[in-house]
Amino acid sequence: MNEKGSRRIPSAGPSITQAEIDLVSQAIKDGWGPKMSYYIDEFTEEFSNYIGYKYCLPTSHCTDAIHLAMLTLNLNPEDEVIVPDMTWVASAAPVIYVGAKPVLVDVDPDSWCITASQIEKSITKNTKAVVVVDLLGNMPEWDEILDVCRKNNLFIIEDASEGIGAKYKGNLAGTFGDISLFSFNATKLIMSGQGGMLCTNNQDLYNSAKLMSHHGMDKPKDGKGKYYWSDVLGFNYGWTNIQAALALAQLRRINELIEYKKWLFGEYQKRLSTVPNLKLSPSTDNVDHTYWITTALLKDYRIKKEDFKVMLDEHTIDMRPLFYPLSAMPPFKNYVNKNMRDENPITYELSDYGICLPNGNNLSEDDIDYICYHFKNALGVS
Ligand SMILES: Cc1ncc(COP(=O)(O)O)c(C=O)c1O
Repeated sequence: MNEKGSRRIPSAGPSITQAEIDLVSQAIKDGWGPKMSYYIDEFTEEFSNYIGYKYCLPTSHCTDAIHLAMLTLNLNPEDEVIVPDMTWVASAAPVIYVGAKPVLVDVDPDSWCITASQIEKSITKNTKAVVVVDLLGNMPEWDEILDVCRKNNLFIIEDASEGIGAKYKGNLAGTFGDISLFSFNATKLIMSGQGGMLCTNNQDLYNSAKLMSHHGMDKPKDGKGKYYWSDVLGFNYGWTNIQAALALAQLRRINELIEYKKWLFGEYQKRLSTVPNLKLSPSTDNVDHTYWITTALLKDYRIKKEDFKVMLDEHTIDMRPLFYPLSAMPPFKNYVNKNMRDENPITYELSDYGICLPNGNNLSEDDIDYICYHFKNALGVS
């Protein structure tokens, strides 16, 4: 209970309606035997129609989908993949899973996303691919990125996990990559508890990812051929019908879910507009942001994100800090040999002072009042 006598305010939370309950209940009842992949197939088809890629492969997490994407590139140990230093760890970890090198670059102060110039600056003879992340419901300057990647023959992996539903010049996030990836984990705009998707228009890449996602096994055609035969060593990255049923119900409500996020951002903005030098969520002219998470930068208040989190925790508000720079964390130490705070100053500053406001899909106006009241108090602003 918080001091208002109500619940703790979580950092995130899904929107579950009768539509989700009905479809999941149906999947629990009949999603077996001949219908063992029925909801997975339905979701895959509807997602493919939504995003406009020919081939979509559902996976148990987006991390698995990124791993599969890296595997399809057949990278060698000297090969490099450029990744923004400011992102969730899963955008970069699979580069290391496959034995290649992540090259961690700074982001743009206006969009908080990777830029064409950072990519261009970091290209070497070993660069094979770039992971471009549509961060926190926002998107980068895609035209410039496409241009530099095409000129340098770089494969584009678009991590649209956080960007789903956003648009750059009218084009949906996740429609720019040679391979694009999505996450449906519990915090995401549309969610299924856990889940991911790999999308591409390249049939060979899709076939290769699909084979690897199921222990290197291809189903016999027309019942002829060998069952349970691995052509190559693979992984078990399949999804469940029940999760797919949940994701399907959510996908059918995607516009409503985006509208809620935009509404929430607007409500935060209304209440916090009087706070001097506080900018909520970065935005740029060409992007229709979903505001999947409303963020704030406490730079001008010189309050570190960890301290701010503790201050709000005391009032039972769960305010999550922004990511740490990947380059600051032990698993990436072997891939950096410079002072990364000097090398990627924007990322380090965002990380020091960036926080995410509660973004659950079930916040009331009272909750938002309560959050903003304590937010301002913590900053010493009335
Ligand atoms: C940018 C980004 N990439 C990848 C992932 C990984 O998604 P999953 O949790 O489905 O593996 C996430 C999830 O938090 C993410 O935010």
